[in-house]
Amino acid sequence: MTILITGGTGKSGLKLAKLLQDANYPFLIASRAGAAPAPFKAVRFDWLDATTFENPFTADPSIDRIYLIGPTVDDMFDRVKPFIDLAFSKGVRRFVLLSGALALTLAGGNHPHKLIYQHLLSIGAEYSILRPTWFMDNFSTVFSHSIKNEDHVFSLAEDGRIPFVATQDIAQAAFDVLVAENAPNNMPYLVGPELLSYDEAAEVFTEVLGRKIIHKRNTREEQIQFYQQRLGGTKAYAEMLSDLEDKLVAQGSEVVVFNTDPSEKVVGQVKLRDYIIANKETFNH
Ligand SMILES: NC(=O)c1ccc[n+]([C@@H]2O[C@H](COP(=O)([O-])OP(=O)(O)OC[C@H]3O[C@@H](n4cnc5c(N)ncnc54)[C@H](OP(=O)(O)O)[C@@H]3O)[C@@H](O)[C@H]2O)c1
Repeated sequence: MTILITGGTGKSGLKLAKLLQDANYPFLIASRAGAAPAPFKAVRFDWLDATTFENPFTADPSIDRIYLIGPTVDDMFDRVKPFIDLAFSKGVRRFVLLSGALALTLAGGNHPHKLIYQHLLSIGAEYSILRPTWFMDNFSTVFSHSIKNEDHVFSLAEDGRIPFVATQDIAQAAFDVLVAENAPNNMPYLVGPELLSYDEAAEVFTEVLGRKIIHKRNTREEQIQFYQQRLGGTKAYAEMLSDLEDKLVAQGSEVVVFNTDPSEKVVGQVKLRDYIIANKETFNH
């Protein structure tokens, strides 16, 4: 048994690699550069270059489980499907897809993650579709500059509350379904232990950092401009993110996710206060 970790140099993938290493499970990291932080082994793999799809199986023919993080491109499903089919033909039986809390219900049912899920069902693969809410780690990536230099976070979410989940908890949930003896065949929501609005999150930052951090309520135009600059995509894509995802938070979408039945969710352990303390240098002037 070997587990292939696509996105293995990223936030959740690298933490998953550490968990697998500590528990002595064999794994291999897929990365565009074919390199990963020591001591992990990596293989060159690019979703946008199908000639690299054989590489993991040449490097390790015993791969039988895969952690899937698809590429953020419009034709994601067309990129991922051929790799799933190749992997299945090579003996891979279990696929664990990192999706998002609302991905299977957004965009009229044609979200690429939904198509991937339907494809896994149609070929008879074992699966787990992980559906995390908003990452706590966004504070260290999306908001690191504005917290550090301008003492604010910003959003269109108004008073909408989010059970921010740490990628450490996402990695643990992925680990659990990847190494489980029986096929998980589930789609759990992944949430953190507490619901916080951005105003409340800013208060936790203020307490821990010892300086005033505020929540700036962006206009729609400001938020669209932000997404466009950060993600480099089309204006239409930035509008979609602002209108769907941020607005849905304002309307309570993530509270509904947090309040789902315990059998449908995994509740992580990392609280925002502990996350800020552990990453304090990221936020200090
Ligand atoms: N942020 C949130 O609040 C949130 C919430 C819900 C769901 N999500 C989902 O979480 C996923 C991101 O997970 P993450 O934060 O753990 O990852 P991440 O830190 O964004 O890292 C992404 C990884 O993908 C790899 N990658 C990028 N382009 C690639 C390509 N063309 N071919 C092969 N590999 C490629 C990169 O590796 P190399 O550079 O080494 O190739 C990188 O390690 C996304 O699908 C996002 O939709 C995010």
